[in-house]
Amino acid sequence: MTAGEAPRLNPPPRGGEWVRIAPSILTADFGRLAEQVRAGDAGGADLWHMDVMDGHFVPPISFGKEVVAAVRAATPRLIEAHLMVANPGAQFADLAAAGAQRLMFHYEAAGSVEAARALVRQARDLGCGAGIAISPETPAEALFPLLDALDEVVVMLIRPGWGGQQANLALLDKARVLRARAAAAGLAPLIEVDGGVKAHNARACVEAGATVLVAGAAVFNAAQTPQAALAALRAVLEG
Ligand code: DX5
Ligand code: ZN
Repeated sequence: MTAGEAPRLNPPPRGGEWVRIAPSILTADFGRLAEQVRAGDAGGADLWHMDVMDGHFVPPISFGKEVVAAVRAATPRLIEAHLMVANPGAQFADLAAAGAQRLMFHYEAAGSVEAARALVRQARDLGCGAGIAISPETPAEALFPLLDALDEVVVMLIRPGWGGQQANLALLDKARVLRARAAAAGLAPLIEVDGGVKAHNARACVEAGATVLVAGAAVFNAAQTPQAALAALRAVLEG
């Protein structure tokens, strides 16, 4: 178990593998953020996924280290930062100091295998885990030469930048391909899927090999409490 990660609250399905649920706060009520995070923890959030956007790599600006620090103060769980920014390395130290324990940047922002490796080293030098996300247009194969260096790969099921979009489930093939390639090399990075994950498609995500499900609007929405939403997601995974 990585430092700060939640203890497993439920046993994995028989013969199955533990799947973590990582709520994204992007669609939470920022006016009562700490309360929302505590509600997520009470509902069994395994870790927290925080989407940092700079207005360059993606059009919106979301938040940075101050909000990460606020979530850090509200939860004992692992915090991973998903950097949708043009120059991720410039933010690593601040995000780590604010309490992020895993830093995930986009392959498209790094631009090459060598630059990506340097960013992974930079994350590790800060004591953080490292992950790389791929946008819909980037093939899974781009990450093949990096799998040995990563704690997590992130397959985007949406165009990055906005919560509440619908997942393109055809992109789950990339999770399948990455998982198989890693396994063939004796590697087992976490396989995270991000964007549009809901109770109705969570099972398909897991069947494609995902081991971490990011859930934004599925957890923070007007229809349910975060606890009820997380229970519904977990029930699908255990059903
Ligand atoms: C979008 C972010 C996602 C987003 C997920 O670019 O990377 O993490 O918050 O939210 P939902 O689950 O609503 O698609
Ligand atoms: Zn994200």
